[in-house]
Amino acid sequence: MNFGGTLRVNKFACFTLVFILFLIIYWRAGGSNYPSDKSDLINLKTLLKASIRAAEIGGKKVIDGKNHELNVKSKGKTQEGANDPVTDADYASHCAMFYSLKNTFPKLSIVSEEHSKGDSRCEQQEVLETESQLFEHKIIDYMNDEYVLAKDVTIWIDPLDATQEYTESLYQYVTTMVCVAIHGVPIIGVIHYPFPPTTYWGWHTKKTSNNIANVPHQEENKEHPRVVVSRSHPGKVAEIAKEAFGANTIVTPAAGAGFKVMGVVNGTYDVYLHATAIKKWDLCAGNAIIMAVDGMMTTVKGENIDYSTDSNVKVTDGIIVTRYDHDYYLSKMPKILSALP
Ligand SMILES: *[C@@H]1O[C@H](CO)[C@@H](O)[C@H](O)[C@H]1NC(C)=O
Repeated sequence: MNFGGTLRVNKFACFTLVFILFLIIYWRAGGSNYPSDKSDLINLKTLLKASIRAAEIGGKKVIDGKNHELNVKSKGKTQEGANDPVTDADYASHCAMFYSLKNTFPKLSIVSEEHSKGDSRCEQQEVLETESQLFEHKIIDYMNDEYVLAKDVTIWIDPLDATQEYTESLYQYVTTMVCVAIHGVPIIGVIHYPFPPTTYWGWHTKKTSNNIANVPHQEENKEHPRVVVSRSHPGKVAEIAKEAFGANTIVTPAAGAGFKVMGVVNGTYDVYLHATAIKKWDLCAGNAIIMAVDGMMTTVKGENIDYSTDSNVKVTDGIIVTRYDHDYYLSKMPKILSALP
């Protein structure tokens, strides 16, 4: 018998077997990092289109709502002591936005300002159409596909920002917002104005909607910054802003976090300053859009905001948003930190 020959063959077979086993173990161990089925992967381009559609159908509910009885209820008081109202339109917009997104992307976690009251009509929403072109946003179709894991995504929606002003017929402040955060970082933001219907979006490191213009940097604005603050507590923040940025600071009160961020994005204001607690669905979309134009949103302590699913929905450290000179404005902030609640 030729033992040597058999041994050689067996050696080779053993080696191959061990190698294959090793490969299988390696692949299985790494398996948890890979999607086990294709629906675990989300195409961000598809998600951007869906977010635009969701914000716009929410906007339609907001328009419809104003022609019906608003049925204003109070959710209590905001930290500034202002009334925090909610209307049937907030709810109708929530149902349309939340469940159209949920039905289109069942695996995504979505955080909304409002909640379904277990009513099945709220949950029965159509799947969003993402195959065809969005006429006004054709550039999206020329962008590259980019895939992320569903488990890394958190969607933040605000079905009706500036409800108080909505009930006062100050419609210009009203927006609907959708934001896509990946690993807690805001990447895609959509801000839709229903009155008249206009949509702005930004995809951090990629592109923005065509209607977002370039704004030239004006260094001299540091001498007389135009600062937008909340309309519900203008006096106190105006004082804080002047103390921080100097007596030539021009303070304008306005409503709606979406509206105020867009004012910084389009160069109407240099700084959006917020000194009290604020919720992340008010901030996320604007945070993504300001980053997409190379601006910044941080707390007044200079920290980024974490938009992961399990994070606290409230930001209590104050907010500062700028398109330029963030570090400069931030350096003035220590003066106001002590004034924070
Ligand atoms: C810029 O944004 C502000 C606030 O959102 C708005 O009032 C103003 O009309 C906008 N201007 C332009 C030119 O888009």
